[in-house]
Amino acid sequence: MTSSRRRFLQILGSSAVILAAAGTGFVLTREPVGARAPWRNAGSYPDPMRRALSWAVLAPNPHNRQPWIVDLISETEAVLYCDMDRRLPETDPFDRQITIGLGCFLEIFRQAAAEDGFAAEVEVFPEGEPQPRLDQRPVARMSLTPGGEADPLFAFIPDRRTNRNPYDTERDVPETALAAMQTAAGDRLSTGFVASGARRDALRSLCQEASRVEQITPATWQESLDVMRIGRRQIEAHPDGIAITGAMMEALQIAGIMTTETMADPDHRAFGESLSMQAGWSQTAMAFFWMRTSSNTRAEQIDAGAAYLRAALSATRDGLAMQPMSQSLQEYPEMAELYREVHQRLAPEGGTLQMLARLGYARPVSEAPRWPLETRLRESA
Ligand SMILES: Cc1cc2nc3c(=O)[nH]c(=O)nc-3n(C[C@H](O)[C@H](O)[C@H](O)COP(=O)(O)O)c2cc1C
Repeated sequence: MTSSRRRFLQILGSSAVILAAAGTGFVLTREPVGARAPWRNAGSYPDPMRRALSWAVLAPNPHNRQPWIVDLISETEAVLYCDMDRRLPETDPFDRQITIGLGCFLEIFRQAAAEDGFAAEVEVFPEGEPQPRLDQRPVARMSLTPGGEADPLFAFIPDRRTNRNPYDTERDVPETALAAMQTAAGDRLSTGFVASGARRDALRSLCQEASRVEQITPATWQESLDVMRIGRRQIEAHPDGIAITGAMMEALQIAGIMTTETMADPDHRAFGESLSMQAGWSQTAMAFFWMRTSSNTRAEQIDAGAAYLRAALSATRDGLAMQPMSQSLQEYPEMAELYREVHQRLAPEGGTLQMLARLGYARPVSEAPRWPLETRLRESA
């Protein structure tokens, strides 16, 4: 063990941390219960539009920015917009990933409506596809009419999580579960997976290097740090972004050891700890799953979101942990070489890789925070 690591561990165990924590009224139960309320409240609204939307806000989305704003027109009609301030211009310069998140939102909306006895009609980009970035034009017009066909995947929405724990390296992912994810994703795009061997190892290394590039590039790393919420108080105040819970991390934050400032400083131990944590994500990937579209239109990005959500629900049903590993798919200059490499490996026939995720078995994680539905609505009705 290096002396700096020993020192770091000493600090962890030191009374200074405990005292710093005690001085702020720190208690061992530090769960952000209020920030998770939307998971408990989903479906409990009086009208069908709000009922379906209250499920849709549970959609996976980049950095949990929750970029959705909904104009309520009536109890059965609404218009979805992207909240321009919730985009991630450094890591997602063309709003491709934000659009995928909006696609996840629309797919849950559709499933929730069907569960409730309504067919959802969704017209995407009714005023045209904004390029090269999203703009103020609507992302989708949505309406509900009685009907719809219940989807068996809907039952797994409350249990779906992005799991950032290390995955069990003793336990392989069965190919049947990966094939089921492909079936769930549907045939509007192509999907692939690998669960063993040299090809998986090469992807582990590629993802690890891509996370390193993101972290050593100040602008892209700062973008993640800016939305990091450490501990209950920060998460309850801003129920979005990358939420880090747990008594240990909160104590380190209070003691000034693990803060967004120390994590930004390449000379600080916290920077290195963060690199190792991310390396652990790549190195314990027991399988990878990816999605490719033949072009890269906004409609295809929305389709990719729906397909990702469906694949993730299938993985949830089969007890698998899943985490997107998006770094190498991102379109900024420092990532260009790895972007080319991942496309050569996984999309040699051309097209755009829209999602790449790792899978395995892991300790479960809690629900990620969400803003209450009411804060995402504009009512013109
Ligand atoms: C397009 C897209 C890209 C994402 N990329 C990553 C990623 O690179 N790393 C990661 O840990 N999570 C990634 N996520 C997952 C989100 O961070 C996650 O959905 C969000 O924090 C909400 O958490 P939940 O999925 O547990 O509800 C991505 C999600 C989407 C839709």
